[in-house]
Amino acid sequence: MREKSGGMKKKIAVFVSGSGTNLQQFIDRYRPENPLVDISVVISNNPNSHALVRAKAARIPFYVFKRSEYGTHSEYSQAMLDILFEYNIDLIVLAGYMVKIPHQLITAYPQKIVNIHPALLPDFGGKGFYGNFVHEAVIRSGAQYSGITIHFVNEKYDAGQIILQKKIPLTADETPDSLAGRIHQLEYIWYPQVIEWLCNDKIEQDVNGVRMYD
Ligand code: GRF
Repeated sequence: MREKSGGMKKKIAVFVSGSGTNLQQFIDRYRPENPLVDISVVISNNPNSHALVRAKAARIPFYVFKRSEYGTHSEYSQAMLDILFEYNIDLIVLAGYMVKIPHQLITAYPQKIVNIHPALLPDFGGKGFYGNFVHEAVIRSGAQYSGITIHFVNEKYDAGQIILQKKIPLTADETPDSLAGRIHQLEYIWYPQVIEWLCNDKIEQDVNGVRMYD
């Protein structure tokens, strides 16, 4: 096993579409100063996302990219890449981003894009499994546990290598809303932690899987 260096501050881009409560956790934890993580830019597909209000309040630059505003797919991806390169981004963090990541970004940032899913993948993942649809499906299935999955992003929805999973038991009278609330609490604990580990080179992915270093 090779020596890990770590310690260098990394620049992250956070991609959001919705309310941005995970983004808020990052802001609270990393701003104004964190030795490992700098939230350099926020990117959204949705100009009305409340997450952008949070970015603005924290004085983080933000940009909106809508596929419909670009003629070709490659113009659209190149515009995103231009911003990511301008801010020298090291790591892309998806936090409730509802749009497929262009493959040009996946190629440009190999093993440097991470997502969080509000269930225990590979179950309850893939197209259509987002928001309360996930929790409804989990409860309907009779599963005794749900949880969170933090994983690398590849070309397929919710199918990249898993970095970390945490599970919680369902209660007898669980509803999609109650489960969503408890899952969010887990996310707030673990997503900022995993991002710090990634920025500190404590986690590495290769063909043999994901390794974590002490
Ligand atoms: C989270 O539950 C996350 O697991 C999923 O999208 C949700 C985003 O919530 N990918 P928020 O916008 O951070 O509140």
